[in-house]
Amino acid sequence: MIAIIDFGSQVAHLIARRIRSLNVYAEILAPDAVSETVIAKSSAFILSGGPESVYDQKINFNKDILYANKPILGICYGHQLIAHEFGGKVLRANRKEFGIATLAVAKEHRLFARIPRTSPVWMSHGDTVEQLPAEFEILAESDNCKAAAIGCTQKKIFGVQFHPEVIHTQYGVQLLENFLTIADIERDWHPDNLQNKLINEIKAEVGDDAVLIGLSGGIDSLVAACLLRMAIDDKLHCVYVDSGLTRIGDTHHVQEVCKALGFSNLSIIDASAQFLKNLENISEPEEKRRIIGHTFIEIFETAKQKIEKEKNIRFEFLAQGTIYPDRIESAQASVTASKIKTHHNTALPDTMQLRVIEPLRDLYKDEVRALAKQLHIPAAFLQRHPFPGPGLAIRILGTVDAEKLESVRNADYIFTQELQKTDWYNKVWQSLAALIPVKTVGVMGDHRSYEYMIVLRAITSIDGMTADWAKLPDTLLTTIATRIVNEVAGVNRVLYDITQKPPATIEYE
Ligand code: XMP
Repeated sequence: MIAIIDFGSQVAHLIARRIRSLNVYAEILAPDAVSETVIAKSSAFILSGGPESVYDQKINFNKDILYANKPILGICYGHQLIAHEFGGKVLRANRKEFGIATLAVAKEHRLFARIPRTSPVWMSHGDTVEQLPAEFEILAESDNCKAAAIGCTQKKIFGVQFHPEVIHTQYGVQLLENFLTIADIERDWHPDNLQNKLINEIKAEVGDDAVLIGLSGGIDSLVAACLLRMAIDDKLHCVYVDSGLTRIGDTHHVQEVCKALGFSNLSIIDASAQFLKNLENISEPEEKRRIIGHTFIEIFETAKQKIEKEKNIRFEFLAQGTIYPDRIESAQASVTASKIKTHHNTALPDTMQLRVIEPLRDLYKDEVRALAKQLHIPAAFLQRHPFPGPGLAIRILGTVDAEKLESVRNADYIFTQELQKTDWYNKVWQSLAALIPVKTVGVMGDHRSYEYMIVLRAITSIDGMTADWAKLPDTLLTTIATRIVNEVAGVNRVLYDITQKPPATIEYE
């Protein structure tokens, strides 16, 4: 295993995903969570970037890592930390370098095997390494950064000022692969082979007990349910809570896919009225998320009791489709990373007195997708765009009511339909319609209209962490806008969002 020590990077997950894509298992750990056991079981360490300066000393970190005689790669802050801790000098920045730079290899070295002498890299830093520690040498430099890559070959300790994990660094994955080769690490992690291992783990953990799982309509809970069903058959009971904050066809899709997969115990609960009532007059995004989370718990708890009574059983386990990024983000491994919004509703089990089982807890989304294919989950289900847990409630800016929900749902449907017709649906990473509760004047036939506006957002992305707006053809945009204004009640204007992420997020709230 490779331990990635997260010093507050916004992209620590990218490092882990890149390493896993090279068939090596990697885990992310907070700097103060690195025990002797972790050090012993790790074959190498990667020290991430982060917002701090090495002089701030705010981060409590186990320095034994540095002297464990294991290969280390420091990235950005990690690079500066290596230089600082081994006796070099880091210069405090008076200006920051942010963006693409040209890296020039300064010395023939295995870290730069199969990488051209010059190549583009992504820089994002303030401080720089000014003076190298003894035994270290410069391996590559850029115009603004003399020590862009440094290393002590004998100890197998390296530092790079740029970010090999981001896509803008053209040979970043090659550099990570070269590090794994130098570190002599076996490439034996294959997510495709996981199915049997996970099923056996479930069997061992659950035994003969009954398990309850909430299906969200997304791929993670469905894959978890599939594995559970294969492990314990009809001792698994699925509950799908229809919050009414869903897209057209969502509930039907869940029903159909469960039927196709042969699930026998599925309860579908229509709770739309209760969600709408609880959201009345609530406009603050995080408050909406909180209320939606609580309403889910309440309804789920009632459903559980009803099933137990009707079937005369007692649930011992609650299964969840939690995946690795959910777990790490909600556990706040990145204590120093800024909080933008709460994405994860992992509070479910606290009140329920059930043991929690999370079969996908160590997997990334692409690994779950690979599993889903093997489990014969229909492709149409897998290709659906990501949809946030709080649903359309966070796509209606401000307060939510039945009319606005109807408008945004219908606009989303038209947008999706037109994207699918032209095959743009599969070319974009995510698309959405949001309702802006600001009224503008329009003209409909001979009448004045005074209605809300819909904003459309379609983005291209690799992982949702950064995104660009999709360059949809203007004829397509015209068709969509015309249909929305003609067919959706309460809307007389359509906007198209051309902001990148960052600085904007994908959703509006
Ligand atoms: P942002 O808006 O942060 O979104 O750029 C990144 C991805 O996360 C989804 N998202 C959520 N997913 N609960 C979720 O399960 C949430 O509260 C939530 N907010 C955003 C968003 O749709 C995008 O795919």
